[in-house]
Amino acid sequence: MADIKVPYLDLKAQYQSIKPEIDAAIARVLDSCQFVLGAEVASFEKDFASYCGAAECIALNSGTSALHLALLAAGIGPGDEVITVPFTFVASVAAVIYGGARPVLVDIDPRSFTMDPALIEAAITPRTKAILPVHLYGQTADMDPILQIARRHNLLVIEDAAQAHGAKYEGRRAGSIGDMACFSFYPGKNLGAYGEGGAVTTSNPDYARTIRMLRDWGQDRKYHHLLRGYNYRMEGFQGAVLGVKLRHLDRWSEARRSIAQKYNMLLANCEVETPTEMPWAYHVYHVYTLRADDRDSLNSALSAEGIQTGIHYPMPVHLQPAYRDLSYGPGAFPHSEKAASQVLSLPLFPEMTDAQINAVMRVVRANVHTG
Ligand SMILES: Cc1ncc(COP(=O)(O)O)c(C=O)c1O
Repeated sequence: MADIKVPYLDLKAQYQSIKPEIDAAIARVLDSCQFVLGAEVASFEKDFASYCGAAECIALNSGTSALHLALLAAGIGPGDEVITVPFTFVASVAAVIYGGARPVLVDIDPRSFTMDPALIEAAITPRTKAILPVHLYGQTADMDPILQIARRHNLLVIEDAAQAHGAKYEGRRAGSIGDMACFSFYPGKNLGAYGEGGAVTTSNPDYARTIRMLRDWGQDRKYHHLLRGYNYRMEGFQGAVLGVKLRHLDRWSEARRSIAQKYNMLLANCEVETPTEMPWAYHVYHVYTLRADDRDSLNSALSAEGIQTGIHYPMPVHLQPAYRDLSYGPGAFPHSEKAASQVLSLPLFPEMTDAQINAVMRVVRANVHTG
């Protein structure tokens, strides 16, 4: 065992660090009894839209719902195609299928782990309606070439920003770059609720109005259902918690970046590949992922020493049993498949102590070749 055990993330430490503010916010919801939507959610929507640099934020019950409703609001459905990547959490692809459209996959750039813009045009057909890049691990995709291709072919761009709260592309925040952006506030995210949560940000008032209706049974007024909608509303408690946490997000992103830099420095002469912050990026390190040839032995060694890790993700979506009918076999996306066999995510959370950082590094360094 290492001298101390290190969890992959520590939500208790974060709660302790902001307890009085959170407890007061929860108490406000209890006092008002606005348990679904309500004033706390509305105030978070306003603050998060302005944080992202978007005109509107529509708060929902998950990031998956955000993707689903963004695609519906764009009018994308049966017979349409949406271009996305196989190296992502399954929701990016699943949400396209929810609305009846077909996901068309393109490989990632092996350095950024995000959509390779050079592969997009070959995947466009007359049925393509949108490009859905995923800002994986807290780093945006290479958005300018993606936006240029979209403009040339009259396609929408929907950002999957579920892992990228506060990330920037050439100074522009995730959430304000494409036509719409979809966020998850799952508890472990950089901006995490105390339950499920998600949101769409957009500066297009028509999309915003449609998504507001769709999240609440398609009502334009009480019991008048203009659209066939869903129950995708955000809960009052989640809005209250997120409103508090948003005020700390930039400080937490900076803490994540400085831990990532320490890791990079301490692993510089080791036979593992550390993450690359691309020239366009302000990376917020939702996930700090190494590449290691013998990932599984390194992972077992860390686990035996009490260091918790993650693998994001061990199998690309096109090889998952549930998505075989997309008809992409092994070998279809070599960079995604190689990444899935090599990636290993180390513990990284803003409250990490130097003792925890050093314990992780000692165990990694003891189990890889150093130059
Ligand atoms: C890239 C990506 N897209 C979409 C989602 C879905 O978000 P949620 O779990 O809130 O539905 C996630 C969440 O894990 C994600 O990481």
